[in-house]
Amino acid sequence: MMRNASEIRSMFASISRRYDFLNHLLSLNQDKRWRKEAVEMSRLSGSDLVLDVCSGTADLAIEYARKVGPSGLVVGTDFCPEMLLIGNRKISECPNGSSGRGKIALMAADTLHLPFADDTFDVASVAFGIRNVSDVKAGVTEMTRVVKEGGRVVILEFSLPEHRLVRGLYKGYFTCLLPVIGRTVSRARNDAYSYLPDSVLKFPEKGEMCEVLRECGLGDVSATELTLGIVTLYVGFKHSMRTTQQARKTSF
Ligand SMILES: C[S@@+](CC[C@H](N)C(=O)[O-])C[C@H]1O[C@@H](n2cnc3c(N)ncnc32)[C@H](O)[C@@H]1O
Repeated sequence: MMRNASEIRSMFASISRRYDFLNHLLSLNQDKRWRKEAVEMSRLSGSDLVLDVCSGTADLAIEYARKVGPSGLVVGTDFCPEMLLIGNRKISECPNGSSGRGKIALMAADTLHLPFADDTFDVASVAFGIRNVSDVKAGVTEMTRVVKEGGRVVILEFSLPEHRLVRGLYKGYFTCLLPVIGRTVSRARNDAYSYLPDSVLKFPEKGEMCEVLRECGLGDVSATELTLGIVTLYVGFKHSMRTTQQARKTSF
């Protein structure tokens, strides 16, 4: 069953202290590589302004901050203060200089109502967060709104592998083993780690998700499978209205 915003927020608050540890454990540390890949695909330039929504404990924001140039800046937003608190602690522990400390600001905000003007950021990104937003299309629309023309929307999300055998094995791990490990290690009294596989199984498949990005006004949409397709990296570009209309005309 789909959960409302306040249930999602309190679920993440309840697992916030063990969230990072479990992320690395359950993904066998692959989550770090997936975020690096997302930053790589964002085609950053020296002065990019990056938004990371559903930023949680700020792992993706920190990765961006390491890679933006000297005049670049990263803003991370999330509606769960407990997750942001841990993110802020991690940022304050980053060594000064090239690590990106001083280049990140975290703030509380709902992805469905971002407190930024249209066309503000060069990149709007999200890692493993859009699946939790109660209206995925409205979330992507809001990310697209705040990106400048020529900017990129970058989405990292779990997906189901296409290969039947891998899909079967993965579903087994995801639905049987992962909730048990998650519940035991997080000591959460709720079913946060059963919600994870449930929400992944309900999330749009690759083709459908690419269509969502296009319907939100993004062009040149790509979906890159990572680690046998258990994660997919979506990238879409915000073109000017004129370019989009021209492209539509030529494709008819
Ligand atoms: C699975 S965590 C991902 C955190 C981080 N991006 C990462 O890569 O580990 C999902 C995050 O999305 C946040 N979230 C879910 N719905 C949201 C919304 N509508 N607005 C803001 N944050 C939201 C949750 O509070 C949680 O911190």
